[in-house]
Parts: sequence; structure tokens; C-alpha cells
Amino acid sequence: MSLKKKYTTKSPIGVFDSGIGGLTVARSLFEFLPNENIIYFGDTARLPYGTKSKETVVSYSVEIAKFLLNKNVKMIIVACNTASSVALHRLRQITKIPVLGVIKPGCKAAIAGTNNYKIGVIGTMGTVQSFAYKTQIHKYDRNIDVYSKACSLFVQLAEDGWTDNKIAKLIAKEYLTELKDKKIDTLILGCTHYPILSETISEAIGKKVKLIDSGRETAKEVKRILERLNMLNEQKPAGKHKFFVTDFQKKFKEISERFLGQPIHDVKKIKLN
Ligand code: DGL
Repeated sequence: MSLKKKYTTKSPIGVFDSGIGGLTVARSLFEFLPNENIIYFGDTARLPYGTKSKETVVSYSVEIAKFLLNKNVKMIIVACNTASSVALHRLRQITKIPVLGVIKPGCKAAIAGTNNYKIGVIGTMGTVQSFAYKTQIHKYDRNIDVYSKACSLFVQLAEDGWTDNKIAKLIAKEYLTELKDKKIDTLILGCTHYPILSETISEAIGKKVKLIDSGRETAKEVKRILERLNMLNEQKPAGKHKFFVTDFQKKFKEISERFLGQPIHDVKKIKLN
């Protein structure tokens, strides 16, 4: 992997998601890479991606990547699991800069974490139907059993802040009993929204099951990649964070703060061509 000369260490990292769920990934990026300038793009006008066709998600992802490339980013992080599942290959055709999705880092951490070789994956319908996690895990080790389950309602629960009430607990139990019966010892949270529900998920699947936050693992991987490429931004003071969305959904402020863990200041609504 090599970067073109025009990108400097101070160039921003571009991160995108179908909406504001990817702020859970941005939160980890801010934590592990405090000096980096980061541009976050949330396609709030067109979410959810999890129920859309592969073709649609790929074409939306290409449009967003082009927007980020115009901002001279030095790396693109696909925070959205659904887009990571289907669009990475296409995105790498339009740019030479590193493009990283959340699937591979999540899989690596899960493989390192499992002792009984039984891993569960939960995500949107799009992510589960793409078999991206399963395929990636089997590239590393074919002896691992991978059990997947689409948990669509978790997205709405996380957005509504219903993270640990009785409805959330009931839904989690209903979704996860199947995976619990398979005796998995590691569960990948394969969706931007699921870390918000991690307590409830852990209770439903069993406290002994390790939860892997793909977004958090991705942030660690970004740091390793930038170090390897000598592209870490060591500037002081802290990096600048800019946010772009395609729509201000209702309760934007409340939801975004819950996902990011801090208020968002520099946010603009834009239209993609
Ligand atoms: N960001 C999506 C993901 O991680 C979840 C929300 C959506 O379906 O757009 O797959």
C-alpha cells in the first residue's frame, strides 16, 4: 500500500456511515487517534442501508467516497458494516489511498478471542445475507463455526435510547437464544448501533460470551496502518473533527450525542450530486 505524495500526515481521515450509527466508530477513532483530523459523513437522508440491495449500497458508497476524496482525505474508513460487507472492492477501484472496512478487524479480534471455535455474528439483514463476516473468518480459519443472525430491531432500539428496558431485553432474548443454543463463546457486534446495547446483549447471550465491537477494533487497526505507512498525525493540539450529513433527522442532537459520547459542534447538511 502506498500513498500519493499530495497526502500529508495532516490530511484528514474520512469516515462514513449510512447515518449517525457510525459515530460509535468515530468515538473509538477519537480515542485511539486524538491527533488526527477527521471528517465524518453520515448519509442520514438515505438510511437505512441494512435493508437495501447491494447495488444501491455500493452506488451510495461510491458517491460518498468521491465526496471524501475531494476533501483530500489520506484514508477512508467505512464505518457502516453493511457498506463494508458489499462495497470495499468497488471503493478500492476508485482510489489508491487505503480503504478500510470494519469486517476484517472485527473478525481478527473474534478469532483471537475464541477458545471453542464457535463465533456468532449479529448485524443488519444486508450484512448477514452478504456472508462477509463468515467468508472473512473462513479465510483465516476454516475450522471455525460461524453462526449469524440479523437483528434489525436493535437499530431502532439504539436510536430511541431503549437500551436496557424490558422491551429491549425481550427482543434481545428472542434474537439471541438461537446463538446461545449453539454455545458460541464470542459474538461480533456487526452493526454500528449494537455497542449501544452491549449490556443488554451481554445479559441475553450470557456474560461469559466475549463481545467484539468491530468499530473499536477498526480504530486500533487504523492506528497500526498509519504507523506502518508513516502517516500518523503527531500534531499538537488535538485533531479537528468535521461532520457532514445529508439530512437532519429528528432528535439528531440527542441521538448523535448518545452515539458519540460528546456533543457535535461542526456539523453541516449537504447534498450529494
Ligand atoms: N450503519 C448500519 C450498519 O452498520 C446500520 C444502520 C443501517 O441499516 O443503515 O450496518
